[in-house]
Amino acid sequence: MSGGLRIGVVGVGYVGLTTAVCLAGRDHDVVAVDIDEAKIARLSAGVPIIDEADLPDLLTRTIAAGRLTFRTDYEALADRDVVFVCVSTPSGPDGAADLRALDAAVTRLTQVLRAGAVVTIKSTVPVGTTRRVAKRLRAYGIGAVSSPEFLREGRAIADFTHPDRVVVGADSDTDAALVCAAYGADPATVLHMSPESAELAKYASNAFLAVKLSYTNSLAQLCRRYGGDIGDVTACMGADARIGPSFLQPGPGWGGSCLPKDTAALVFSAQAQGVAMAEVEAARTTNVAQPARIEAALRQSMTCPLRDARITVLGLTFKAATSDTRDSPALAVCAHLAAEGAALYGYDPRLPAIDATVLSSAGVTAVDDPYRAAKSADAVVVLTEWPQFRDLDWAAIAEHAPGAVVADTRNLLDPTTVEAAGLRYLGNGRADGY
Ligand code: UDX
Repeated sequence: MSGGLRIGVVGVGYVGLTTAVCLAGRDHDVVAVDIDEAKIARLSAGVPIIDEADLPDLLTRTIAAGRLTFRTDYEALADRDVVFVCVSTPSGPDGAADLRALDAAVTRLTQVLRAGAVVTIKSTVPVGTTRRVAKRLRAYGIGAVSSPEFLREGRAIADFTHPDRVVVGADSDTDAALVCAAYGADPATVLHMSPESAELAKYASNAFLAVKLSYTNSLAQLCRRYGGDIGDVTACMGADARIGPSFLQPGPGWGGSCLPKDTAALVFSAQAQGVAMAEVEAARTTNVAQPARIEAALRQSMTCPLRDARITVLGLTFKAATSDTRDSPALAVCAHLAAEGAALYGYDPRLPAIDATVLSSAGVTAVDDPYRAAKSADAVVVLTEWPQFRDLDWAAIAEHAPGAVVADTRNLLDPTTVEAAGLRYLGNGRADGY
């Protein structure tokens, strides 16, 4: 060890693995534990397992430096100063979080950690969870802190290294100071608060982003009706420092591993407290209506009925710069169109990394070339904002699919180029669009 702390990480999913490699990169000695033996074997061999910029290099460097080890036994955590718990907390059909993995991890930690250690919960958990866990840990002299993550997929290493803010929810100043030392956090970015506030702050932030996105999609719909342009409207909104320009881009709906789960959990827990979280509920309602909006646009503009249509979908991941398809709005649109009888041919730059069964259950036939995917298409639907779609040879696509409708749900393409190729362009929230 080289003067750093002895850190443990439990659960090497997206958050846990990012936390482990970044802390090892900060000269701490890190032991990461997961119950999945195959995952641990691959990580020990330096295989990155998640698709994240800068992660492969940091992983191999920290393993080679002897600062990062992967284990399946909790005994390897016995001497740790701080342990970050990053296990998954999936939500059930009613939106309630499933805390079985978290509770099992805490039980194992009580059996191995020494008194004075601090357990830091990074998993997104319902408000009150950290205090409940703290009660259990106190009997063993172990501290508990809530420190939610705010990492964006595709930028996780950069977000961890240069966070907007570091939230530390702790009653004890000593425990909070230890966690800040582990992060090497700039004191100006640290927000020290109660565990309840920290847990709520995570849900509040993600739900606010979801509200902003659904509001943008509803405004896009209104722009279309009035002949306005959503890009102009959001340019005005975003220039207002009180609003800010991010998360104002219309799309096929929001998705991914966090926003759907966190909004559901917030609505569920608010209801349990007798609070109507009407804004968040409305954002969810708007979001599930987006596939039907796209369906209506295609029905109105295509020359054949949807049930006979051949549709090319460009982009299958939940956003660009990732191969993650969890709760992908692109796949929600595909499943919706497939249920209406359309035949779907899908291309994504990360196709080789996408599980084929996920695509087939959304009714998509994968095609590993965008031009071949467009063969004889009645419509081309852009669903993920991969910048390379803008640079496709749209004249070549028009040769494969003469007269096709191009529905650009992300307003990514240059309408002039698409129209010049002889295709019919439909932007999201634009005068001649949908
Ligand atoms: C999100 C939160 O941003 C992060 O703070 C949290 O910790 C985890 O969840 P991530 O899941 O990586 O991060 O996705 P994000 O970049 O926030 O995008 C969420 C969804 O919104 C995607 O489907 C994306 O395509 C969509 N989106 C985003 C838009 O449709 N328009 C935008 O302007 C921005």
